Amino acid sequence: MLPRFRLPISAAEFLRDYWQRQPLLAPASASGLDVPDPNVLAGLALEESVESRIILGAGEANSETPWAVRHGPFTEADLQALPDRNWTLLVQSVDHCLTEVSLMLDSFDFLPGWRLEDIMISYAVTGGSVGPHFDQYDVFLIQAAGHRRWQLGPHCDATTPLQPHDTLRLLADMPVTSEHLLGPGDVLYVPPGVAHWGVAEDDDCVTWSVGFRAPRRADLLARITDEVLAEVPEALFTDAGRGLPEAPGTLSPADAQTLTQQALALITPARAECALAQLLSEPRHNGLDFEVDTGHIRAAAPAASLVRHGSTRLLADSTGLWINGEHHALPEDLQGLGTYLASRRLYEQDALKEHAGSTGLELLNEWIEQGFFVSLE
Ligand code: SIN
Ligand code: CO
Repeated sequence: MLPRFRLPISAAEFLRDYWQRQPLLAPASASGLDVPDPNVLAGLALEESVESRIILGAGEANSETPWAVRHGPFTEADLQALPDRNWTLLVQSVDHCLTEVSLMLDSFDFLPGWRLEDIMISYAVTGGSVGPHFDQYDVFLIQAAGHRRWQLGPHCDATTPLQPHDTLRLLADMPVTSEHLLGPGDVLYVPPGVAHWGVAEDDDCVTWSVGFRAPRRADLLARITDEVLAEVPEALFTDAGRGLPEAPGTLSPADAQTLTQQALALITPARAECALAQLLSEPRHNGLDFEVDTGHIRAAAPAASLVRHGSTRLLADSTGLWINGEHHALPEDLQGLGTYLASRRLYEQDALKEHAGSTGLELLNEWIEQGFFVSLE
């Protein structure tokens, strides 16, 4: 089965009332969550190129056990030496490494694809928890196996008191506003800033976190200015027709405004769009070397003939297709192909033929060779 999620309410209602605003519980709304099994997840935590961590600490309130974090890559011996209770292994960007996991992201098409960051998967034994905290990003917490008890708290911000800890940002105090026990297939959406604390109720507790990306505004500005500076010739300030200065020793507000306007006029919509599309089509993690389990995908989606690799980020624009931060110009008759490819992760032969024609198929073959797509034929 393909991993799937369905909002329990209409997308319009979700976006209007919940997105970035308040948590939503979605019981029995996800399926196809049996891959990867815990052994595959543990295998990823041994890989140099994969970001993983283990958090040890007691989920029980008032416990004296101190919280501790260890960073991967781990060895098999590290994992075998873990205690029986109270730890969680978290593996970041599993969708980039395991294409079959990335297919879950097609269920989130009620938001633009560039807003998606990655899927983190956690594996916990009884009592395992990452502690009371808040995240800066929206997240859908999908219970894949076992049970986890989630407590939710109030909205937090940079002024919310934290426990003294070098690396873990745990809340000093979390007043509980609601509590939910999630079993396989249950989903909890948590917006940025909302306090939450999930404790594993049994061993083999697996939770997928579909995380969203909200770029730092300063990073957006830096990218846009980089793009502008790379392109713009030495245009100088001009002020023909200016009036007499009132105070020649000062920078007048009117001059400051004109100088700023002339500088900002260099940021044209086309330059800004180009810089943003490049930034937003860069994958969080390059896992193109990870092989795709085509057998599994073929069995789950017999009609599909091509799959996008989980490490391929696409963004279509009016002149072509951005693939992992690089723009590929497409002729007019292939614009539809770019839009089709960027809108999903599994592709059917008939639709591909219809959008691609023979030149498009040649292009696709190049992209298959580069590992961006994988044939299921
Ligand atoms: C987890 O999977 O244990 C933690 C996810 C989160 O709280 O954001
Ligand atoms: Co969290």
